[in-house]
Amino acid sequence: MFKSPVSRVDAKLAVVFDSLGLPAHLARAQPSDRPELGDLQCNGALAAARDLRRAPRLIADDIVALLRNDPAFAAVEVAGPGFVNLRLSAAFLTACAADLVADERLGIADEGRGRLVVLDFGGPNVAKPLHVGHLRSLVLGESLRRIHAALGWRTHADAHLGDWGLQMGMLSAAIRHRSPGLAYFQPPSDRPYPANPPVTLQELERLYPEAAAACRADPERMAEARADTAALQAGDPGLLALWHALRALSLEAQVADFRELGIVFDALDGESDVRDAIAPLVERMVASGVARHSDGALVVDVSDPGDTHEVPPLLLAKSDGAALYATTDLATLEARAAMPGLARVVYVVDQRQALHFAQVFRAAGKAGIASGVELLHAGFGTVNGRDGKPFKTRDGGVAKLTDLLDEAVERATVRIGESGYGAGLDDNGRRVFARQVGIGAVKFADLSGDRLSGYVFDADRLVAFEGRTGPYLQYACVRLRSLLEKAAGAVSGPLLPIMDEERDLLLSCLGFGDAVSEAGRELQSGILAEYAFGVAQRFSRFYAACAVIGETDPAVRASRLGLCLLARGVLETSLDLLGLDVPPRM
Ligand code: ARG
Repeated sequence: MFKSPVSRVDAKLAVVFDSLGLPAHLARAQPSDRPELGDLQCNGALAAARDLRRAPRLIADDIVALLRNDPAFAAVEVAGPGFVNLRLSAAFLTACAADLVADERLGIADEGRGRLVVLDFGGPNVAKPLHVGHLRSLVLGESLRRIHAALGWRTHADAHLGDWGLQMGMLSAAIRHRSPGLAYFQPPSDRPYPANPPVTLQELERLYPEAAAACRADPERMAEARADTAALQAGDPGLLALWHALRALSLEAQVADFRELGIVFDALDGESDVRDAIAPLVERMVASGVARHSDGALVVDVSDPGDTHEVPPLLLAKSDGAALYATTDLATLEARAAMPGLARVVYVVDQRQALHFAQVFRAAGKAGIASGVELLHAGFGTVNGRDGKPFKTRDGGVAKLTDLLDEAVERATVRIGESGYGAGLDDNGRRVFARQVGIGAVKFADLSGDRLSGYVFDADRLVAFEGRTGPYLQYACVRLRSLLEKAAGAVSGPLLPIMDEERDLLLSCLGFGDAVSEAGRELQSGILAEYAFGVAQRFSRFYAACAVIGETDPAVRASRLGLCLLARGVLETSLDLLGLDVPPRM
């Protein structure tokens, strides 16, 4: 198994700290904040000083004295108040590189060891077209799925469709108002219900906002919608048939959007799939005393003495018996817990639902649902317009996801035209290329930074070929590929970095596994996005400073080719884990 330079140095520090009687948890190296002073730094002496009542510089001196003769280091020095700066030796880097080249996992640890993780993301509601708000869940969810898979987990991606709530009653009531004569609303007969849905997709997408507005404005319409929802959930055959038809119609469009983003779900299960499990679950939770009655409703107390914010009780059932969001999540979790090997569930859902998930996780704990399974909410901030407010269409409506993607592709097409990239492609090739660049740009922007922060969707900036953008990374990949194509047949050899630019690139490639692990641990694809950007930048500098194919010294050329192969593997895998395509040429 490959060990990164950081983990190898950690092991050395552990021995040194132990012999000096310093706390083991402080024996840590990290990439240096000031690369001109060292590759790695250890801040342990500073952290240990207070407890030991000893000057940090003196502690650092002791550490340095024990590391100085280790051939892994070219230099070990104390700096500032007591940092230990470590410069790795060329021989050490060469040895690490040889291990990485030989590792078919490219340094990514097998942390999952075949355990199962369910990733719950996407979560569209039936009848509502995918909008901007779904973008992040889909892009982040898919990336976290790929990162988990790379780390050795078995993954199961589930869209958890919102297909059983009030919106279904709103829709059927609205359709009844338009066409009361439809068979769905008649007493049951022997004749089958119509094979085709009663509305087109365009009508359905218009109908839903109208129906919701009507219900908000008119209590009578709302009462009707609730009655329809209850009748549907109680098994009314006509409403069930209508529900089937509408669900299928909207799902078809949603799946097309998923495909556009390169996402294939293992299951398109929804809230409706656990409908029969809800009543028995509620009964059990009452019988075991986990749920209690409160004003005609059933609730679960989930507050904790340590809470800094109030965590109100989870609403398990209302007096009318309609299925509730949290109860459905509990029943779904119980169903998932039956999947062999389930060890983790990750919910990739808007951070505004943080309280909901806190309540569900705690209620699950109290009810013994999925015990031993790690439950995580990977929340995220909103996609904003240039005014800093949640992204809207020009006329102020909710922006459809396809419109946003189309805008990015359109801008990418313009950029490509201006830049001269893709010159050798025919029309169709250019179209595919523009899609890869436009959608890659959106994904990269979406994944960059901390997922909890919102970001501004500015299509022009996203599709730029310079700066921290998806296209910049794609471009680096394409250059690497074509360079290696030209070098086909030439042999690579041991990596013997000479120039600083080579060393920097190699060092960052050696940190790939660490970056993937950290991204997986924090559920932050942004860590990997930032890492990949760093590799692409270092590759650009390397390529500007060092001859590869034109290098005359055979050993140097072989080393640089080896480095390029490594960098290509790291960059391509990074892009794949972020969900970005690599265009064939640019
Ligand atoms: N359908 C929900 C919504 O639109 C999102 C579902 C998220 N997943 C979950 N298991 N609750 O808000």
